[in-house]
Amino acid sequence: MSLASVSRMEAKLLLSTYERQPILFVRGRGVCLWDSRGQRYLDFLSGIGVNALGHNHPAIQAAIKRQAGRLLHVSNLFFHEYQAELARLLTEISGLDRAFFCNSGTEAWEGALKLARAFAQMNNRNGSKAKWRILAMDNSFHGRTFGALATTGQPKYRAPFVPLVPGVTFVKFNDLDDLRCKFDSSVCAVCIETIQGEGGICPVNKEFLELASRLTKQSGALLVLDEIQCGLGRTGRHFAYQHYAVLPDVVTVAKPLACGLPLGAILTTERVAKCMHPGMHGTTFGGGPLACAVAIAFLREEKRLLKHVRALGEYFHTALEALDKRHKAIQDVRGVGLMQAVELDSAELAKTVTKELLQQGIIINRTHETVLRFLPPYVIGKKHVDQVIKALDAALHKNAESKDRTEKTGRARRKEVHAHA
Ligand SMILES: Cc1ncc(COP(=O)(O)O)c(C=O)c1O
Repeated sequence: MSLASVSRMEAKLLLSTYERQPILFVRGRGVCLWDSRGQRYLDFLSGIGVNALGHNHPAIQAAIKRQAGRLLHVSNLFFHEYQAELARLLTEISGLDRAFFCNSGTEAWEGALKLARAFAQMNNRNGSKAKWRILAMDNSFHGRTFGALATTGQPKYRAPFVPLVPGVTFVKFNDLDDLRCKFDSSVCAVCIETIQGEGGICPVNKEFLELASRLTKQSGALLVLDEIQCGLGRTGRHFAYQHYAVLPDVVTVAKPLACGLPLGAILTTERVAKCMHPGMHGTTFGGGPLACAVAIAFLREEKRLLKHVRALGEYFHTALEALDKRHKAIQDVRGVGLMQAVELDSAELAKTVTKELLQQGIIINRTHETVLRFLPPYVIGKKHVDQVIKALDAALHKNAESKDRTEKTGRARRKEVHAHA
């Protein structure tokens, strides 16, 4: 089918929830995708952080082929071979004790919120003051279901669907005083994306995360981290919180876990897990044998790639900072590992640059209006980074003013705010 006929049919038949780019992708290999006209693209977005091993990775292909010929689905009323092994691997790398598997990020987040409320109720049997409030962060994104929306700190996502789940208070991200002021004994969970993704690649500050950890520990509430976008090797460590001296009570992962098959997970401690009993939570598809077998294959590769992600992340970040020195339109460069961003001075410019890169066969994306987001596969090389930097440099030269090298102080100060441990 051609791009024209697919887009005509979609316009007539689908809910209009996406503004798609006019490209029909037909195959992928490594860091590249090909469209229906045979044009090749360098993928620096990897399906918004999903294709962490690139496309058609041999280990993933082999796991899919092997498992597709054996067993695709069995209900969660029975055992299969892979959930326990996948839970073992995830608990080993996270320092947590137990896992629950589901199908997506939003579903993992939804389960994490339920866990927080159930844990609070379990501990409230002795008649102490009820904990039910959830503190969530301004500028965050946790997904599209009702609980996830209720905790997403960007009004544009929530507004069309109110009323949402009650009991959520938003805290200014990285504002110690605001957190102190809004936290009290009625809070059952403090929810944080360790690095805000949709919100423009903004890492949580060390002091803020440590304060959230201290407050929750002292009061018996939970520290719940969303690592759906930033977890599982993206930052050069298994989890982004491992850059800090903090262990959460609950963490959610999804995107790259099964490299494109739908799979999410909630990880938690033994103490918290005690609040869940048979029948309280569940899923038909979550944690099926195919997705779990692929996730096991992914985690074997992820372990081997962490050092490479750190090295390439540094190389990329340094190159973006060098670009920053040459272009007035760049307001900030931030990120950890292969989760990088360039904030520009206008949404229009960010749109133009993203479009021009696409025309040159480079896929990135614009988030939070003015931010260029880069989430390349972990398997990129320096030559791919060089190609992106060269194209960005050219697009900025063409569409924005270059700058006098002395105008740096304001931004340098802003960067300190984003710095993490
Ligand atoms: C941090 C974060 N949490 C949750 C989600 C929702 O995940 P999903 O789209 O798989 O439901 C996303 C998706 O972008 C995300 O980036």
